[in-house]
Amino acid sequence: MSGINYSDKIPNNVNLSEDRVLQRALEHWQPNYLNWWQTMGPENSQTADVYLRTAVSVKPDGWAHFDYVKMPDYRWGIFLTPRDGERKAHFGDNIGKDVWQEVPGEHRANLRRIIVTQGDTEPASVEQQRHLGLTAPSLYDLRNLFQVNVEEGRHLWAMVYLLHRYFGRDGREEGDALLQRNSGSEDSPRILGAFNEKTPDWLAFYMFTYFTDRDGKFQLCALAESCFDPLARTTRFMLTEEAHHMFVGESGVSRIVQRTAEVMNQLKTDDPATLRAAGVIDLPTIQRYLNFHFSVTIDLFGADQSSNAAMYYSAGLKGRFEEGKRTDDHQLKNDAYRILSVADGQLREIEVPMLNALNEVLRDDYIRDAASGVARWNKVLEKHGIEFRLRIPHKAFNRKIGALADVRVSPEGQVLTEEQWRLHQHEWLATDEDRAFVASLMGQVTVPGKFANWIAPPVIGINRQPVDFEYVRFN
Ligand SMILES: [Fe+2]
Ligand SMILES: [Fe+2]
Repeated sequence: MSGINYSDKIPNNVNLSEDRVLQRALEHWQPNYLNWWQTMGPENSQTADVYLRTAVSVKPDGWAHFDYVKMPDYRWGIFLTPRDGERKAHFGDNIGKDVWQEVPGEHRANLRRIIVTQGDTEPASVEQQRHLGLTAPSLYDLRNLFQVNVEEGRHLWAMVYLLHRYFGRDGREEGDALLQRNSGSEDSPRILGAFNEKTPDWLAFYMFTYFTDRDGKFQLCALAESCFDPLARTTRFMLTEEAHHMFVGESGVSRIVQRTAEVMNQLKTDDPATLRAAGVIDLPTIQRYLNFHFSVTIDLFGADQSSNAAMYYSAGLKGRFEEGKRTDDHQLKNDAYRILSVADGQLREIEVPMLNALNEVLRDDYIRDAASGVARWNKVLEKHGIEFRLRIPHKAFNRKIGALADVRVSPEGQVLTEEQWRLHQHEWLATDEDRAFVASLMGQVTVPGKFANWIAPPVIGINRQPVDFEYVRFN
C-alpha cells in the first residue's frame, strides 16, 4: 500500500487500476490539468531541467527522490498515508466509533464543500506565483519556487482524487471547476480572498509561503483529524510536503533580513532611503509586507463565531489542531472560549461557547505558530546588533472577515477613526511605492552560486548539494 505504482499513467498508491471507472475519469481530467499547467503554471519554465524531489513512497523515511525533471513531466499522482484499520473517531458526537471509509449521506454536501475549498487554494497559489520565475534571485531560489509549485499541483490532484472517487458526478464537475476558476479573475475568481491577491515579487512570495502556506498547514492538520478517513489520510501526506513550503518562506525572509542587516552595519545607517539606494530592502518595508500578509491570511480562518464550525466539529468532519494531544473531553459542549469583539466601537473580550468559536481557536493556534518564526527573524537582527524588531500586528488589524472587520485598528491594537486610519495606513501596509521599489530590485540571477544583492545566500543547499549547485538548467 505504501509503495507507489509508477507504471500507471497516473502514479498512485490507491490501486487505481482496479477501479476502471475512476481511472478513466481521472485520465480524462489529466490532460485538462496539464493544459492548465501549461497556460497558468510557471511562466517560461516548461523546458528547464529542475532538480526536484518526487514522492516514491509514503513511508516517512523514503518518500523523497531527487533528480532533474522537466516540470510538465513531473509525476503528479495520488498518494495517501496507508490505512490504519484501527482508527476511531476521537472527537465530536461519534467519538469511539469507527471512522468512515465512504461519505455518509448526511455529510456529503459539507464534505464536498470542505474539499473544494481546500482544493481551490492549491492551483490558486501556482497562478499567483507564475511570473516569479522570471525574476528569481538565484537558481537555488528558483528551484525552491518550482518545488512549491509542483507540490501545490499535486495537492490539487489529491483533492480531485477525493472528489472523483467519493462524490460521483458532482465531484467530477467540481474537479473541472477547480481548473476553471483563476486567481484574481473578474468573472470566476478563486474562492478565498487571500488567493486572489497578487504575489508580485519575491518578498511577497516568501511572506506568502511563510504565512499563507502555514494557514494551509493548520487547515490540513484540522482535516487530518477527520472521521472521513480518506480525507484524513490524504491531508496527512500533504502535510509532509507543506513543511518545505514554510521553510522556503521562513528562510527566504530570514536571508533578506540578514542581508539588510549586513548593509545597515556596513553603512552605519537605518535610513530607508540610503538603504534602498544601496539596493537592499529597509526593515520598515519588510514590516509593512509582513502586516499585509499576516492580516490577509488570518482572515482565511473565517468568522470568529460560526455555527458551521461547530457543526463540522460535532459531526466529526474537521477537528482541532493536534486534537489527539488535547486533554479535554473532545466534545466541548460545556466549554467556553474568549474571543475579541467590538462593542461601542471598542475592542472587548467576550466569552462564547467554544464550539461556535472553533475558527478562532484554530486562528489563535496559528498565530502562536506564526509568531515563533518572526522571533527567529529577530534573532538575526539581534546578532547583528540592530535594535529594530519585526512584529506580528494585532489580531484586529486590517481584518475583512468576522466581527473585527467593523473596526479600524492600528498594528498595536489601538482603535482608530476612519480619518486616523486613512492618515496612517501607508505606515502600516505596503504602499504602491514600496511595491514599486521592491519590484525595481527584482532581476533574474542564473549563475550557479550567485545571489541577488538584496538577499543573503542560504547556509546549506538542497538535499546536501552545495549552494552553487546547478539547481535549474535552462535548455
Ligand atoms: Fe498545498
Ligand atoms: Fe503549500
